[in-house]
Amino acid sequence: MPTISKKGASMPESPIRKLVPYAEKAYKQGKTVYHLNIGQPDIKTPQIALDAVKIHSLDILAYTRSEGSEGYREKIANYYAKNDIHVKHDDIIVTTGGSEALLFAFGTIMDTDDEVIIPEPFYANYNGFSTASGVKVVPVISKIEDNFALPPIEEFEKLITPKTKAILICNPGNPTGYLYSKEEIKQLAAIVKKHDLFLIADEVYREFAYDGATHYSILQEEGLEDYAIIIDSVSKRYSMCGARIGCLVSKNKTIIQTALKFAQARLSPPTLAQIASEAALETPQSYFDDVIEEYVERRNVLIEELNKIEGVQVANPNGAFYCIAQLPIKNSDAFAQWLLESFDIDGETVMVAPAAGFYSSPGVGLNQIRIAYVLNTDSLKKAVNILKEALKVYKD
Ligand SMILES: Cc1ncc(COP(=O)(O)O)c(C=O)c1O
Repeated sequence: MPTISKKGASMPESPIRKLVPYAEKAYKQGKTVYHLNIGQPDIKTPQIALDAVKIHSLDILAYTRSEGSEGYREKIANYYAKNDIHVKHDDIIVTTGGSEALLFAFGTIMDTDDEVIIPEPFYANYNGFSTASGVKVVPVISKIEDNFALPPIEEFEKLITPKTKAILICNPGNPTGYLYSKEEIKQLAAIVKKHDLFLIADEVYREFAYDGATHYSILQEEGLEDYAIIIDSVSKRYSMCGARIGCLVSKNKTIIQTALKFAQARLSPPTLAQIASEAALETPQSYFDDVIEEYVERRNVLIEELNKIEGVQVANPNGAFYCIAQLPIKNSDAFAQWLLESFDIDGETVMVAPAAGFYSSPGVGLNQIRIAYVLNTDSLKKAVNILKEALKVYKD
């Protein structure tokens, strides 16, 4: 039989999705499963975006330009200007989700065996995108004890080799919820300039900054124009995960020209979803105010309830809608599976994402889980209570 590629064989499974078959078995047994495993918000998509798809007047559902329709990119540039990020429409390539923007960024700047330094724990699919691109992830560990703050800059410097092409951060962070300070972004800017590296910032959670903190983008940092690449998406901002629209943004013309060749190879981002995403840009500020208020309340409830469980340690997230919780267990993979297969309270159980998949250092994060607080506070309370009772009886 012909064999598959080494790359295919080494593609990691998503820790967010790999337990789905166990969840499906639990549904078949009539159980309710609280999904804390995946960042699929339960927030309503802005009506204006849904209506735009309903009432569009297209006769032909045609391709758009590979870089995305010009009208949409002009409006994205206006959105950035409102966020004090000053770019033009031709600094933007519309992509099929932030996921494709990450693949384009990797393809544009890295060759096989090149290295990208990423503070870990990090968004698990960075492992998958790196494997798909033949790129090596070099992790720099951020610690739960430090609330997952940016590791000391010397730690990055120690890891830089002739093969290092970029530093990748997620701000605010999935899975940590950590929001980088302006000072931390300045430190990263200095190091990429000093060592002539790219700085990729995944800013798909830009709006989700809590407790009065403001998000500081890498493209607000002067002098970083040639180095900075932003990854963005409508998925979380407007609760439009199914639209599959994101973008790659850079002031570096060579980056844009090169990424465009990748975009041309796949022809066009989805046309209808661009219509919805363009309309979503008209979403009133009140929508975001309500959403942020809701997430802050959820975060507060979640952290308070988790802190009541003996042996559980949790870092306080100040952005995005995730947190990492350290549990008094040895192996969260086995625990998460056991929850779905063998534990329930009155027919209800909970699905979490084992955190080891958010690290690339072997053996790290085995006693941690990632929780997405994408459920209402009542459901969150019930879900944490299930975790609490489960930990009382679970044996590693
Ligand atoms: C940090 C981060 N980046 C990128 C993505 C990809 O999102 P999408 O492809 O839906 O835009 C996600 C999705 O969860 C994410 O959490």
